[in-house]
Amino acid sequence: MWAVGACGGGAEDTSLFPAGYASSYLQVRPRRSSPDHDLNHVLVFADPAAAEPYQMRDHPFPTGAVVLKEEHDLSDDTCSGPIKGWTVMVKLAAGSSAATLDWHWQKVDAGRAVVTDNEPRCYACHTSCGAPPDGYLGTCSAP
Ligand code: HEC
Repeated sequence: MWAVGACGGGAEDTSLFPAGYASSYLQVRPRRSSPDHDLNHVLVFADPAAAEPYQMRDHPFPTGAVVLKEEHDLSDDTCSGPIKGWTVMVKLAAGSSAATLDWHWQKVDAGRAVVTDNEPRCYACHTSCGAPPDGYLGTCSAP
């Protein structure tokens, strides 16, 4: 997949989350290693709209809700080193994209360039883990 060339002002930023997410999003899960995400150490953040459904698991994610995973090297077991990249899920309107579980999936590199959009591998795996008790509405975290 080709990114659109930079034109008068740096690389295009089409990632689905703001650069300053750490100040407005909530960290919704303790740091852990993720065998499913390329063996990285990961932190999971949710925007204010996603935080409650993600943690409470008793009502749907509103359209536009964002869940984001900050990926660190496996050797970085405190997640204090450089960020390797992000994986992101943004909720789409209910029933609008059954094939992708009504989420938009994105992988973003450390420079915030979009690496993949709606990569089938993402929702294929999340389909299998995204049902209670292991997951919730396409998300895969076990509580
Ligand atoms: C082989 C299975 C697998 C694949 C492929 C996969 N994931 Fe995940 N993902 C998981 C599991 C399991 C978790 C929860 C546990 C963890 O963090 O490892 C998770 C967690 C996440 C989270 C944190 C929210 C949650 O679900 O709890 C996001 C965001 C996410 N994945 C996005 C993506 C994106 C985007 C892709 C594709 C680029 C992707 N995932 C590919 C298995 C997978």
